[in-house]
Amino acid sequence: MFGSSTKLETDKAKPATEEGRSTMSPTGPVTQTSSQAASGGDTPDRRRAKTLVAKEVNLFYGDFHAVENVSMTIEPNKVTALIGSSGCGKTTFLRSLNRMHELTPGASVKGDIELDGEDIYAGGVDPVAVRGLIGMVFQQPNPFPTMSIYDNVAAGLNFNAGKVSKSDRDAIVERSLRGAHLWDEVKDRLQRPGSSLSGGQQQRLCIARATAVSPEVLLMDEPCSALDPVATLAIEDLIGELKKEYTIAIVTHNMQQAARASDNTAFFNLDESGKPGHLVEIGATDEIFTKPQKKETEDYVSGRFG
Ligand SMILES: Nc1ncnc2c1ncn2[C@@H]1O[C@H](COP(=O)(O)OP(=O)(O)OP(=O)(O)O)[C@@H](O)[C@H]1O
Ligand SMILES: [Mg+2]
Repeated sequence: MFGSSTKLETDKAKPATEEGRSTMSPTGPVTQTSSQAASGGDTPDRRRAKTLVAKEVNLFYGDFHAVENVSMTIEPNKVTALIGSSGCGKTTFLRSLNRMHELTPGASVKGDIELDGEDIYAGGVDPVAVRGLIGMVFQQPNPFPTMSIYDNVAAGLNFNAGKVSKSDRDAIVERSLRGAHLWDEVKDRLQRPGSSLSGGQQQRLCIARATAVSPEVLLMDEPCSALDPVATLAIEDLIGELKKEYTIAIVTHNMQQAARASDNTAFFNLDESGKPGHLVEIGATDEIFTKPQKKETEDYVSGRFG
């Protein structure tokens, strides 16, 4: 954990971290070198996932208060599922965790979000760099359709175009596609367009694209909702693998998926339409599903099962 003396707003000259990893400095993330990308280099193969902490987070669209006072810890090397009824603010909250919420005109954030103690909303922190460290996978697979499979994975590396050589880029693309369990299916057609893949393959391509920039956290918003059951199970297996390296938060409406794929579960609810959504409780997934603290959690979880 970084101490308060390394606050990012005063951190402009800070070099890449002790692990040669990315920083959120205003100059943007620093990408691993080729030896690190290909073999781990002098860094451990298993990167250090980070803890994401939300403190009294309130989210607004203009005057509309969408999410109220959410405090929670998203633990490293675990999968945290966000569940709750439609409109209770799961997507809004998820998008605040990597500063995507502010891309909506009129949207605003109150409260703190810290990545291993560093405030991602501190003055001087580059939101683009934050999104490099905290990657997002969306509900609909969204590869760049005319771009090749290879270029889709390499797309995020372009921030560092001057720093990544062709051989480094090749190594990162292969590593990311292998990590997303897609390499064997596409290695002979890397120059075909991203849109030539099936829906499940496209979602794995998007996961490869998100991991290519070496994030520390992966946020997933209903990543399986557009997929059939076989592709869904493939993504769930992949999520189980990815948590060895990353901190993962996943929004899902699928209770079985939350039960199968997550370690912790956060239940969101809203009292009535037009009121802000809030966090009811968060705990170990087993407990939330079998003996939750709050009756409204039990009603939701059992209603969905029963
Ligand atoms: N761009 C926007 N502008 C204004 N209000 C919005 C916007 N996006 C979402 N909202 C509102 O914010 C609240 C939370 O929406 P959000 O999309 O976060 O819910 P959700 O829990 O992800 O729902 P779902 O399960 O249906 O995806 C809703 O009342 C929604 O109408
Ligand atoms: Mg949503």
